Amino acid sequence: MTAAITAIGGYVPEDRLTNADLEKIVDTNDEWIRTRTGIEERRILRGPGKATSDLCVPVALEICKKRGISPEEIDCLIVATVTADMLFPATANIVCDKIGAKNAWGFDLSAACSGFLYALTTGAMYIESGRFKKVIVIGADKMSSIVDYSDRTTCVIFGDGGGGVLLEPNYEGFGVLDSILRSDGSGRTHLHMKGGGSLRPASNETVAAKEHYIYQEGQAVFKFAVKGMAEVSAELMERNNLTPDDISWLVPHQANKRIIDATVHRMGLSDDKVMVNIQRYGNTTAGTIPLCLWDWESKLKKGDNLVLAAFGGGFTWGATWVKWGY
Ligand code: UT7
Repeated sequence: MTAAITAIGGYVPEDRLTNADLEKIVDTNDEWIRTRTGIEERRILRGPGKATSDLCVPVALEICKKRGISPEEIDCLIVATVTADMLFPATANIVCDKIGAKNAWGFDLSAACSGFLYALTTGAMYIESGRFKKVIVIGADKMSSIVDYSDRTTCVIFGDGGGGVLLEPNYEGFGVLDSILRSDGSGRTHLHMKGGGSLRPASNETVAAKEHYIYQEGQAVFKFAVKGMAEVSAELMERNNLTPDDISWLVPHQANKRIIDATVHRMGLSDDKVMVNIQRYGNTTAGTIPLCLWDWESKLKKGDNLVLAAFGGGFTWGATWVKWGY
């Protein structure tokens, strides 16, 4: 028995933050952002009282509607995020409450940009065990809540959004077929948020030192990302005897168009087999991969082989082979 993806949902907020808007806030320009990252605009969740759970709720409801199920039928709901509504309780608990998933248990999973792959693999194992029949896996981040809009090296990259899938048992060989997941915590020095955890609890000092924002050494992360994402994707192909011809789609984490291009090259794929929507949404962290699936859903065919690949904070990285089931 495998865990098949049987429905997709996605959500991006209405408000757009364009490169032209950013030119007015920091010393940057449209040409630099496009050529160095591939991004043209990103979406921002504005308004008081709005949090990551508000990105997840429309995703979960779309999934239930498309599959024709009630939220009460959901057994488990996992939210991959680094921008939880609160440190506790889990955003997953809040989402279940907001959608009326009264019979579900759930939790948040923190693996930054690889969060969706970690959560998808985890959710698939719950299905494969035979214990649960309907597991929703969401990747969503309200990155605008931890971006310093006076730091041009990070504020041009990130956006808000999320997507998710429903996993159900399958007996025809469709679904999540293999994953290679990796982590290396020594990479934390290059990409992290210093304040707000047990190491540096919030204080006047941490706020003044801007410790509640993303800290990233872009070039260092870039080098690890190119190597990590390309190598793990190639390893997944070799381990499963998949040739470039066997692969219908690469679904890469959308951090930087140049990192995606390097992965495509290493896998020997042509550009028309790669999902890229970074120009419209920027880097939504755990949201990028399910948002790609959501955007491309109408083009996917039963039996298509998809390789999902990500690299991010932790460091965490990985690749997952999915055979599309509908
Ligand atoms: O998703 C989680 C994992 N994260 C990633 O995968 C991100 C990986 N890193 C990257 O994508 C890239 O490193 C960045 C997009 C963050 C930066 O691009 P880069 O090509 O590595 O730029 P850089 O940091 O080497 O900076 C090159 C120049 C510098 O100026 P000088 O020193 O050469 O005069 C920067 O100050 O570009 C300057 N610069 C900018 N200029 C205009 C940096 N940010 C900007 C900006 N606008 N926004």
